[in-house]
Amino acid sequence: MPKPSATAPLTIEFANCLSDRVGSHGLPPGAIEESAATLSELTGRLLRTRGTGWERWRDLPFNPMRKEHVSSVKKLVRQLKPSTENLVVLGIGGSALGNIALQAALNPVTWNLMPGKIRGGPRIFVLDNVDPHLVGQTLEEVRRSDPKFKRTIINVVSKSGETAETAAQFIITRDLLKKALGKNYAQHIVAVTDPAKGTMRSICDAEGYATLPVPDGVGGRFSVLSPVGLFSAAMCGINIDQLLDGAAAMDARCSETNPRKNPAAIIAFLLMELARRGKVNHVMMPYSNALYLLADWYRQLWAESLGKRHDKDGKEVFAGATPIKALGTTDQHSQVQLYREGPNDKVFCLVEVERFQRDVKIPKGLNVENLKYLQGSTLGELLIAEKRATEFALLESQRPNFTIRFPAISPHSVGQFIQLWEVVTAYAGLMLNIDAYDQPAVETGKVATFGLMGRAGYEEWGEKVNNALKPTRFTV
Ligand code: PA5
Repeated sequence: MPKPSATAPLTIEFANCLSDRVGSHGLPPGAIEESAATLSELTGRLLRTRGTGWERWRDLPFNPMRKEHVSSVKKLVRQLKPSTENLVVLGIGGSALGNIALQAALNPVTWNLMPGKIRGGPRIFVLDNVDPHLVGQTLEEVRRSDPKFKRTIINVVSKSGETAETAAQFIITRDLLKKALGKNYAQHIVAVTDPAKGTMRSICDAEGYATLPVPDGVGGRFSVLSPVGLFSAAMCGINIDQLLDGAAAMDARCSETNPRKNPAAIIAFLLMELARRGKVNHVMMPYSNALYLLADWYRQLWAESLGKRHDKDGKEVFAGATPIKALGTTDQHSQVQLYREGPNDKVFCLVEVERFQRDVKIPKGLNVENLKYLQGSTLGELLIAEKRATEFALLESQRPNFTIRFPAISPHSVGQFIQLWEVVTAYAGLMLNIDAYDQPAVETGKVATFGLMGRAGYEEWGEKVNNALKPTRFTV
């Protein structure tokens, strides 16, 4: 088979969402054509609003933003990379999931274990939680390898600087750096934050850290292609130009007014129409460990953007579909029983890789009759056969599914995938008539935490929580 080019387009196969394949659980084959005018109209609306308000993320792969971001990221990387052994990224939600997904997709799984010379970039630790075990152990390891933190960079990513988890991690790591490095500590912090306002901005201005912007109008979950994701990616050798090229190429496809040529319009239409018909769970199942954490990134994008109580007219709608991640083939031995015989309330997005960068041959030589069929083929062939077998099994149970096929895993194809899902989300927001860019329901947990942790001005929240959760007899 000829090697697919690293810049070849992703393909989307969606026949398995149609009624000829899954009966009444699918859409009529003519559904897209029948809705073509509406879909073109939505494309037109998105083209008019792109680059404005909260849709500035859409222009991240294009100049002038792209040029500005790439050149400031590369400048810092040139300056810091040669002397950095450990890059510790502090962030949560949209300020971490993209960074984690990019590393998992595009760097070897053994990255942190490889000798520095082979790696060609720092070890990376993304702390996206305040689990004391995780944070304590990670910082202990960083200190073991670099006792004075001279070869360590803390990359704090927070648009607001107010997020309790990131702020707590930041206070801890800043203190460690300060104690170890004295007045030079500030040179070991790179902050990605709002360029003009916010708590982190004031700290950066007061303490003189290097900073990169989370641009105005780019929310956390749409920010991976901004310096939020680009800095740690470039520090660890990921080609950010190709990543952005991929995103730009996908954006052009997603700007097609003919919906049959527009992958984002098609996916959004399928998922929203099927959700209307009861398929309210959306499973993303990559057949690739490298792409698995992109499913985690997608979960946040889908859940925070589309899970909304009210629509734009103030009507109570409880919109959204639950994003679920699964891994092929691993979850064939865990979830597929439910997926085939449990409630038929899901749509499956199977993600396939046409050609892995490497393959592993299964050698001949084990003379056991019922294991002979494996011998002489490769793990890649087995993985693809299992994906096709599961796709077929899902069809047998009339479970709608579609496939996104990566020609290969490359910065370009990952960039395509990211832009694709961001645009799909924008379409879905319009189709549901909801604001895809706010997250009002996240606020209660935030302010309640402030109250419980004693932040001034939030005392009543602490009381409210303690009253609501006071001990009862319903405990065993
Ligand atoms: O998508 C979002 O907006 C959120 O997930 C934020 O990224 C997350 O809450 C972190 O916020 P901040 O970057 O302000 O620390």
